Amino acid sequence: MDRPAGPMTFERPAFLRALSGETLPTPPVWLMRQAGRYLPEYRELRAKAGSFLSLCYNPGLAAEVTLQPIRRFGFDAAILFSDILVVPQALGQKLWFAEGEGPRLEPVASKERLSEIDNLADDRKLSPIIETVQRVRSALPCETGFIGFCGAPWTVATYMVAGRGTPDQGPARALFAADPSLFQAIIDRIVVASIRYLNAQIAAGVDAVQIFDSWAGVLSPEDFQRWCIAPTKRIVDGVRAEHPQARIIGFPRGAGRLIPDYVRGTGVDAVGLETEIDRAFVRAQVQTLVPVQGHLDPNILRAGGPELEREAEAILAAFGDAPFVFNLGHGILPDTPIAHVERLLKAVRG
Ligand code: CP3
Repeated sequence: MDRPAGPMTFERPAFLRALSGETLPTPPVWLMRQAGRYLPEYRELRAKAGSFLSLCYNPGLAAEVTLQPIRRFGFDAAILFSDILVVPQALGQKLWFAEGEGPRLEPVASKERLSEIDNLADDRKLSPIIETVQRVRSALPCETGFIGFCGAPWTVATYMVAGRGTPDQGPARALFAADPSLFQAIIDRIVVASIRYLNAQIAAGVDAVQIFDSWAGVLSPEDFQRWCIAPTKRIVDGVRAEHPQARIIGFPRGAGRLIPDYVRGTGVDAVGLETEIDRAFVRAQVQTLVPVQGHLDPNILRAGGPELEREAEAILAAFGDAPFVFNLGHGILPDTPIAHVERLLKAVRG
């Protein structure tokens, strides 16, 4: 199911041009969590599927949900609808979503529990998600980029160890302090599974992959090197070895002034920016290395009004004259009005 490749019909998506280092007059734009609860058409299919996970594992519905924000807003990239926690589930860890409370897993924090978890992910468990990729690819306009993703080993491990989201990732930090070799063994399994999973997504049709390290910000520089940079580099190398053309975006949220180390140490093609980061620092120390993506505050998008336009313009002024992808600094909030997304697109695209 290749896209037309002749010079008359094929234009490389703006999203991929920006990720490859081109400065575009209007930056491409997409939003993290763009398929989600702020859209009535998402809520409808989510209700039809019965639960979030059954939506993720239903290729027909998951493909439809992936395409919904593209149809409504014409974003420059689609992101596969799934979750980072399907990888621990494929490794044999029980996963469920407590309604209104977020993810729950049976915690892995001992050698005994780790030995009950598989060494290799069961590819059959992830095959519905790969089928979603194929379906989206065949339905996606050729000017739209397509992003696959996984969680970074550190962030995924925080959920595997605690069994849930935690405010400070305390259980995972306690485990790597008490038993670094056990923690390393958990990280190693996530690394191997993530390489296979991302390569399968790329083979099925995504152009780029994003590695979400949502909890990168809580680690000391030494721990950041060991638990974020080193495992992410292994994933980057494992994907490049099979798919050198695929673009890889790292998103070490909260890494702040460690971002240049992350970019150099992992070899990612582009990096996501959290809301809190200093723009002058990014301009001088990060955007000189790789294209950047981000970093509008999701709260400002939700609030709307003239502040939204002001912020969008300030971000364009800061990053728009070098390779840049417009996005949020974290996922869109579920109570964001649709009209605010439309206003943002006007502000970015003119
Ligand atoms: O961006 C997209 O539109 C693609 C889909 C996507 C989801 N989760 C869908 C989702 C992506 C890329 C993720 C990544 C993810 N999942 C991360 C990393 C990024 C981040 O947000 O920090 C993390 C930490 C998770 C784990 C996870 N999944 C949590 C903590 C939660 C509960 C919080 C919440 O927002 O409800 C989820 C659930 C989830 N993942 C939803 C969606 C659309 C909401 C589920 C629902 O419909 O009820």
